Amino acid sequence: MLLLCLCLVAITDEVMPSMVGTNGSQDSKPFVIITWDFLNATQNAWKQLSSGGSAVDAVESAGSTCERDQCDHTVGWGGSPDENGETTLDSMIMDGPTLNVGAVAGLRRVKDAISVARRVLENTDHSFLVGEMATEFAKQMGFKEESLDSEWSQKTHNDWKANKCQPNFWLNVMPDPKNSCGPYKQVKRDVPNTGKHLINRENHDTIGIVAMDRNGSLAVGTSTNGLRHAISGRVGDSPIPGAGAYVDQQVGGAAGTGDGDIMMRYLLTYQAVEFMRMGLAPQQAAEETLRRILKRAHRSHIAALVVADKNGQYGLKSYYFYIKLMGIVLQAPRVLTLSEASLTV
Ligand SMILES: *[C@@H]1O[C@H](CO)[C@@H](O)[C@H](O)[C@H]1NC(C)=O
Ligand SMILES: *[C@@H]1O[C@H](CO)[C@@H](O)[C@H](O)[C@H]1NC(C)=O
Ligand SMILES: *[C@@H]1O[C@H](CO)[C@@H](O)[C@H](O)[C@H]1NC(C)=O
Repeated sequence: MLLLCLCLVAITDEVMPSMVGTNGSQDSKPFVIITWDFLNATQNAWKQLSSGGSAVDAVESAGSTCERDQCDHTVGWGGSPDENGETTLDSMIMDGPTLNVGAVAGLRRVKDAISVARRVLENTDHSFLVGEMATEFAKQMGFKEESLDSEWSQKTHNDWKANKCQPNFWLNVMPDPKNSCGPYKQVKRDVPNTGKHLINRENHDTIGIVAMDRNGSLAVGTSTNGLRHAISGRVGDSPIPGAGAYVDQQVGGAAGTGDGDIMMRYLLTYQAVEFMRMGLAPQQAAEETLRRILKRAHRSHIAALVVADKNGQYGLKSYYFYIKLMGIVLQAPRVLTLSEASLTV
């Protein structure tokens, strides 16, 4: 058995999902689990659930809180500028009983990405709106149009340009992206890709949420501002159903965070739900799912999942985080940490 936690973590970073739920009874609903230790988000979701709100209300509330708090500069306005210095937002909500999805990607100049995703969920027959057109939709739905720049995002962008646009995500182009800014042209031969993209908690992240309300309905969601210095137009796994998050009321739900360009190849959250459908417990489902990516990883990746089943099974055994720390928050916030990752292949 090979312990893979250290060899595959790009940065041995701290990951602390938070969770709120009742404890000690057969009936574990309602509850909410989120990736990372964004406590305000967890608490606000809990307020919704404990006052009779729906799972979708809780997911929206957690996401909105992080968008307002600009969690880690990786959720909401004013973070993760792309190559042009612009911040755009990606978000989705999925409803367990109906499998209905509302999602936006590349949303420009509107701060409330997860609330716009909810409008796609509830006010359209569609599932996914993108870019400038998603902005037009949001404006029709009454959202305010405003800049998503912050001093921090502009400084981050200017520093990046001053540093020859390093790091960036170009391959097989000239001039050499390892030491020059664009514009680039494609080259036919393969330029060896020796550079390491620094993917860590600070330059990319997502709030991922799994919630169950009093009636036992499940919902999941995500919100992110993407990957810092990404090529403009890049969309990661977060808003894609089955990739960033997935839920089926008959089984359970899952949400993920990590290197989205890799994670979306594996449809990890769909896979976690399918493993539960086959009879695995939530933690086993999370571990088996992450093994898929770990077995085939060619470079350092980080990937993490929170998973819960339709019975509201939760706790340290019902969700699994590949990286260093786990957290659990009951009605009064509480964080438990797992001292080492334990995923083996
Ligand atoms: C729970 O079910 C009851 C009865 O069907 C309904 O009135 C209520 O709105 C539901 N609550 C949520 C949070 O969905
Ligand atoms: C949490 O919310 C409080 C009250 O809105 C706010 O003052 C605080 O900055 C938030 N915390 C974070 C980490 O954003
Ligand atoms: C639930 O409560 C019991 C008894 O107070 C405690 O030992 C246990 O750690 C709690 N479980 C969780 C998941 O917090």
